[in-house]
Amino acid sequence: MTDHGVETLRWREGCLEMIDQRILPARFEYLAYHDAAGVAEGIRSMVVRGAPAIGCAATYGIALEAMKYRATFPEAFEDALEHAFVVLAASRPTAVNLFWGLKRMRRCWEAQAHLPPPEIAEALLQEAHEVLAEDIRINRAMGAHGAALLADGARVLTHCNAGALATAGHGTALGVFRSAVEAGKRISVIADETRPFLQGARLTAWEMVQEGIPVTLITDNMAGHLMSRGEIDAVIVGTDRVAANGDVANKIGTYMVAVLARRHGIPFYVACPLSTIDIEIPDGNAIPIEERAPEEVTGFRDCQWAPAGVTVRNPAFDVTPAELVTALITEKGVLMEPNLESLKQFLGGGAEESH
Ligand code: MRU
Repeated sequence: MTDHGVETLRWREGCLEMIDQRILPARFEYLAYHDAAGVAEGIRSMVVRGAPAIGCAATYGIALEAMKYRATFPEAFEDALEHAFVVLAASRPTAVNLFWGLKRMRRCWEAQAHLPPPEIAEALLQEAHEVLAEDIRINRAMGAHGAALLADGARVLTHCNAGALATAGHGTALGVFRSAVEAGKRISVIADETRPFLQGARLTAWEMVQEGIPVTLITDNMAGHLMSRGEIDAVIVGTDRVAANGDVANKIGTYMVAVLARRHGIPFYVACPLSTIDIEIPDGNAIPIEERAPEEVTGFRDCQWAPAGVTVRNPAFDVTPAELVTALITEKGVLMEPNLESLKQFLGGGAEESH
């Protein structure tokens, strides 16, 4: 455990190690990765998950491939790297950070293209290290901005896991809780279980318990009841992609929480690093939504509770319209009521706060 929470990804003796998040909280284990195909499989199978963590993993996937082929002829090196970009881009579709990380690695490669493969490989590895370090700095900045929005004693609901486990460290939504606690605020967290993959019950609850931040676990269908009883003061979630008009894609069930929050006059905040904003996507309808295996809905691990043969839908994300978002919390400051115009101005301008 570091002062940013757990080390979700770490570089050890020439390979990438990632916490196997599929088996938490029962077991805490790292798996080692040596090439891009391995990292892509780690992303696809949810060893690593959460938008910024996926982005970091992808950058290391490129660096690993470059290290693996650095002693080959330039042509073979280039072919291997091009293939790595394709394999990693196909791992999961929704979190834009994956594509952001790959673009960044391509820019780094292009800037070093005149150098021999060993030097390009070294530059790519340094870039991956920088992306990881930068992610922690960004989360700390977001945490400070977000903490200012929370009153002492606030009871804050979150959905899914936007914690240290979903990033290089500190977390986005959970980073706000950590920063608020560091600032001396007494915050308590209500964690939605987050069906079907249980990121809330398994990962958010685990992170908060590890750090002694008060947390209460509920099933997803209990949020409305608690809100109606005045037991929730704010909602903070993370995001996988924000469209140019401010629509927010996040874990399935987030939209439901946002509608409930509006019904009960509760602020709905989205912790959103700027790398998660995709200005090329006009609105939420154009965000690709991953559909996952039916087995995640019909049971969990070895236990199957639904009848064989039943038709299942399993969209892993949904879209919350911008009009339900009270504010985006970014490393650059807080953007109230995001929309096409305000987001454009916010991204273009240098202002710290945009209330
Ligand atoms: O399917 P997952 O676990 O990768 O989904 C993660 C989320 O939806 C998170 O809320 C989002 O990536 C933000 S993480 C800082």
